[in-house]
Amino acid sequence: LNVLSVASEIYPIIKTGGLADVVGALPTALAQEGVKVVTLVPGYPAVTKALARPEVVHQYPGFFGGPARLLSGRAGALDLFVIDAPHLFERQGSPYLASNGRDWPDNARRFAALGRAAADIGQGLAPGFVPDVIHAHDWQAGLAPVYLSLADGPRPRTVMTIHNIAFQGIFPADLLFELGLPTSVFTVDGVEYYGQIGFLKAGLQLADRITTVSPTYAKEIQTPEGGMGLDGLLRARSGIVSGILNGIDDAVWDPATDPHLAKPFGRENLQARAVNKAALQERLGLRPDPDAIVFGVVSRLSEQKGLDLVLAGLPRLLAGRAQLALLGAGDPTLEGSFQAARVVYPGQVGCFFGYDEALAHQIQGGSDALLVPSRFEPCGLTQLCAMRYGSVPVVSRVGGLADTVIDANEIAIATGAATGLQFGPVNLTGAIDAFERAKTLWQDKDAWQRLQLNGMAADLGWSRPARQYANLYRSSLQTV
Ligand code: ADP
Ligand code: GLC
Repeated sequence: LNVLSVASEIYPIIKTGGLADVVGALPTALAQEGVKVVTLVPGYPAVTKALARPEVVHQYPGFFGGPARLLSGRAGALDLFVIDAPHLFERQGSPYLASNGRDWPDNARRFAALGRAAADIGQGLAPGFVPDVIHAHDWQAGLAPVYLSLADGPRPRTVMTIHNIAFQGIFPADLLFELGLPTSVFTVDGVEYYGQIGFLKAGLQLADRITTVSPTYAKEIQTPEGGMGLDGLLRARSGIVSGILNGIDDAVWDPATDPHLAKPFGRENLQARAVNKAALQERLGLRPDPDAIVFGVVSRLSEQKGLDLVLAGLPRLLAGRAQLALLGAGDPTLEGSFQAARVVYPGQVGCFFGYDEALAHQIQGGSDALLVPSRFEPCGLTQLCAMRYGSVPVVSRVGGLADTVIDANEIAIATGAATGLQFGPVNLTGAIDAFERAKTLWQDKDAWQRLQLNGMAADLGWSRPARQYANLYRSSLQTV
């Protein structure tokens, strides 16, 4: 079974969030299921640089405003198709934003190009790899099913995965012509979305299967509160909507072999975590104190992630000798507030702002608990990493957080099932209550260690989800 995976980022080459992790891990995991995956990505500088021995599959004389080439090649373990179109993608920095922090003004064209190339490959543009299924990730790949629907002849099945319904790719209707779309698709059954062009909407409307990254989020997005305008469409198509939980890459996230850690460890030598905790305290300017509970955060700083609740609850979180170790990037206002908190609580609050992969691992391996108080969370990967690394996740009860963390209620503790703490509803009272519960549990060293060991023993890898995707691809081929 051949699958073309289509996405705007892929770990380890270019990443802004969990999407890249998923897109980067799926090919290897799916190979075990007899599924051959090639991933189509835009030719950002980091991508063309990573591509070993590229071959030119096709030359486009004019492709969304300039000449382009479709390349194929390998980057590490990944098989890639790359759209080499300097006028669209040869730009430094974020895949989506200019250096002024605003979206690139031509994002509609840039990601229409991604969908167009995917559809072309679906139609046999690369004779060496003809996909049975096209798997489109998020709005950036949303037009792939649209362009395919315009083609004659046999076409692959399409699967559209929602990693975050908050980002929908909505653009003015007058771009229709420029995107090579006929007016016939500007309807409620096509790309039209409240008078504009909706990339994600279009993909969801035309795909043969819709998935999202957890069963709970699959339900939430079918409600007016969680659907962000797309709940009606999703309810109408609910028969083909499913949730498949993300995994984490066992090779990237393994505390026993992690080169970023001061001291690798496993379930059998948990006490080695103390060395990592001390190293983390030192790195972030926290008071060296083995007995203080260290709460970690590894997150984009955005409204979604609920970190304003951590700020508002800070006096209660830090009461006693507790500490906060935060790694985050994003909203400058939130950055400023955490920066200020560091001044108010010297030695108790340590922050680093920016993207730092090593520090992400060090916080997972050195903190005692990891805070994920998201307002919504399609799946979330950091709570999974935390479990694998023996940091107890303290999470809101939404989306994939609800599906992956088993709350330490009395029964779950007694039966040895608990892996973390959940709270809901997502508000300050709930968050503070969870902080207090964590601090109380922390006093009971045996109970805390059981939570750590349970989390570390959980199967959080990609084999189960990969089997589910493989089954989904196969089932999509069976229906006509
Ligand atoms: P989202 O995709 O919504 O940001 P996820 O939890 O699914 O959330 O994935 C986030 C990924 O990005 C994880 O792999 C996490 O370790 C990583 N990450 C988040 N913020 C940072 C940061 N500032 N520096 C390094 N890695 C980060
Ligand atoms: C999105 C979501 C996150 C999810 C990730 C990968 O960025 O915000 O919850 O884990 O995609 O699917």
